[in-house]
Amino acid sequence: MCGIIGFSGREQAAPILLDGLERMEYRGYDSAGIAVRSETKGLQVKKTKGRLRVLSDLTHGGADLEGTLGIGHTRWATHGEPNDINAHPHVSENGQIALVHNGIIENYLEIKEQLQRRGVTFTSDTDSEVVAQLLEYHYNECHNMLEAVGRVLRRIEGSYAFGIICSDFPNALIAARKDSPLILGYGENGNFIASDVTAIIKYTRDVVYMEDGEIAVVTPESIDVFDSEMNPLEKQHSQVDWDVSAAEKGGYAHFMFKEIMEQPEAIAKTVSPRIRDGRVVLDDITLTADYVRDISRIFIIACGSSYHVGMVSKYNWERLLRRPVQVDLASEFRYSDPLVDEKSLVVVISQSGETLDTMAAMREAKRRGARTLAVVNVVGSSIAREADDVLYTWAGPEIAVATTKAYSTQLVLMDLIGLYLADLLGTVEKSEYDAILAEVQVLPEKMSHFLEHFEDVQYFASRYFNHNSIFFIGRNLDYAMGLEGSLKLKEISYIHSEAYASGELKHGTISLIEPGTLVVALGTYAALFDKAMSNVVEVKARGAEVLAVTTETFKEKMEKTADSTIVVPDTHPILQPSLGVVPLQLFAYYVALQRGCDIDKPRNLAKSVTVE
Ligand code: G6P
Repeated sequence: MCGIIGFSGREQAAPILLDGLERMEYRGYDSAGIAVRSETKGLQVKKTKGRLRVLSDLTHGGADLEGTLGIGHTRWATHGEPNDINAHPHVSENGQIALVHNGIIENYLEIKEQLQRRGVTFTSDTDSEVVAQLLEYHYNECHNMLEAVGRVLRRIEGSYAFGIICSDFPNALIAARKDSPLILGYGENGNFIASDVTAIIKYTRDVVYMEDGEIAVVTPESIDVFDSEMNPLEKQHSQVDWDVSAAEKGGYAHFMFKEIMEQPEAIAKTVSPRIRDGRVVLDDITLTADYVRDISRIFIIACGSSYHVGMVSKYNWERLLRRPVQVDLASEFRYSDPLVDEKSLVVVISQSGETLDTMAAMREAKRRGARTLAVVNVVGSSIAREADDVLYTWAGPEIAVATTKAYSTQLVLMDLIGLYLADLLGTVEKSEYDAILAEVQVLPEKMSHFLEHFEDVQYFASRYFNHNSIFFIGRNLDYAMGLEGSLKLKEISYIHSEAYASGELKHGTISLIEPGTLVVALGTYAALFDKAMSNVVEVKARGAEVLAVTTETFKEKMEKTADSTIVVPDTHPILQPSLGVVPLQLFAYYVALQRGCDIDKPRNLAKSVTVE
């Protein structure tokens, strides 16, 4: 979603704001803007539709805006079309107050009408401008900026992260959060607010995570944090251990390609510390054998690719735990009056740890007494902090909107958790346990080996990139993997694509197969390979062009039927999707490249979805 940065320091703010916005641009990118305050020039605001480059050119890299206090924003439109006027920062009518906002104000129309009746004129269609105007209204009443912010927060409903500056309030910016991430950063030449750690990591690693309902006042020398009643709070500092270079392209053309290539290393980082003396060790969680034995239902809840990890895990966990596992989309679960109680284990998966639907689903589960375990990549994120237990994937910062290494690390971590729980329950044979663990440890090596031959996939992408409808078919784990392959392709190449369980084809979808239709047939799941092959034959008989993904074991059989075949190394069946998904990621990448798409920043999408 939108990205927010704010700076109060001893250097010119505008270039720092632009630099931070550039690092966050992947979060949301239909427009951008900055506001800077100086003693002599007061508040200066520049904002524009389009990419950050446009804003940077407009301000000569920030040189046009003088001042050491400022706020910046990249916008992903929710209320009002993406244009210059709706871009943030929003300024109050008399030009005194500028504000950036991430989130949605639900009662903005009601407030807007009240202000209009009092003669306030609005320029934009946004809910955020309403907050800027309401702030001015209260500020004019009480002449105390902090008090005015407090009054506004009590009046508005919805979610928000705010950065606010006021021409009367030298050197200080005010921040507030509710259901939208915001961190405070302590730098050498000044202090920061940001919605995302990548925005400020170049300047500081010393951060404080704001909690819902908190308000912060940031000056060059200090940051004071208050609760909603304005009582001062002592906040705990955290050190960010991400490397700056991890958030830079490092010679690769796109973050997505870099992140695909980083997968073996990311998996090794996620797995290695959790295997000791031939056992899975999950030190960070407190689930006991007694507790696990008492669990009657297991839910896995997530959105997007994280949900697809849940789909794979359902098959794997049911096999390992011999217990029913229900996977739900967070946006559906939260409103489904879910049958969750104290005997439920609810596992939520989220790369960002900030996805609003996932967070709301987790809160709903907790409210009903369930125990929650979060699998999260971003350390200190909201979901990580609210879950009863958290296990981190150690994928490092993922910048491309389309996830790859976060997906892969989630997948392997879910396998480890499944194995751990199965061991507690005694539902897994020792030989099976040992075989899976042995394979987990060589997974990075096998993946690296496959990645050395990425040109093969590039070649197939160049053959098939001009198709405008592509089907992914597979059974069991291959079906779950196909969902991810199909999502990757559609999100970055804009090709219409669907994933189907092969056996379901003949109940409707096969009517769409006509001569030349591209079908990506997934045949890596050994137990059902022959069944999957029958479905390949069925689509071939209707004229489909088949690009297959299979394993060394089934290479020969597959090559006899498919038009093109990509072969991945064999591994334990449970882990096969970890290898099988890699050619699908590369295929999506190269197809999108051939079609000239904006790979790291696909249209209409955002990395972290903090609105419903
Ligand atoms: C967005 C991203 C996806 C991601 C999904 C869930 O749609 O573009 O890549 O899978 O959100 O995000 P989360 O951070 O909760 O895993």
